[in-house]
Amino acid sequence: MALRLGDTAPNFTAPTTEGEIDFHDWKGDSWAVLFSHPKDFTPVCTTELGMTAKLGDEFAKRNVKAIAVSVDSVDSHNGWVGDIEETQGTAVNFPIIGDPDRVVADLYDMIHPNADTTLTVRSLFIIGPDHTVKLMITYPASTGRNFDEVLRVIDSLQLTANHSVATPANWTKGDEVIVSPGLDDAAATEKFGSFNAVKPYLRYVADPST
Ligand code: BEZ
Repeated sequence: MALRLGDTAPNFTAPTTEGEIDFHDWKGDSWAVLFSHPKDFTPVCTTELGMTAKLGDEFAKRNVKAIAVSVDSVDSHNGWVGDIEETQGTAVNFPIIGDPDRVVADLYDMIHPNADTTLTVRSLFIIGPDHTVKLMITYPASTGRNFDEVLRVIDSLQLTANHSVATPANWTKGDEVIVSPGLDDAAATEKFGSFNAVKPYLRYVADPST
């Protein structure tokens, strides 16, 4: 059955460009972004892996480890990494899983046969410190992902994990947030001091993390 939010991210052992890993051991109690790309030596994938590498400090600040996967071999990945470095102007600073037997691709349902029978689509999973799946997005091969959006979602997930709030449309760190519907007015006052109730169910407070 396909993975769902809240499920434990399946564990696996796999070869990577940084050696053999046990996924849960490698991840430890960090957050993780596990993302598939269709194929090495292809243009959109080259820009995506370059962008992930460029954002390495942003991921590290948030205690997030990134890891990529495709059904190519580690030898293929190692050959491609030089092209990513040359064309995107950055060293690749995260592991890339070699998955020619589709072990990871199948565990995470990354092959969508009606889109492509052999290649992984652009799946992306954000996995929490407790190893559960917090977010899943799927893009087609022709559309590169927006990694600023990935960071934005991580900011939201980390904020809402620690405070009784939710984040509104297009929220970015520092913007006002929404008091969790699970908190009644008395509890919200106790927690936040005051809040702006536009409707009884739509109550704004300042970002409690800033
Ligand atoms: C790309 O990364 O550009 C790509 C990969 C597979 C199919 C189409 C595009």
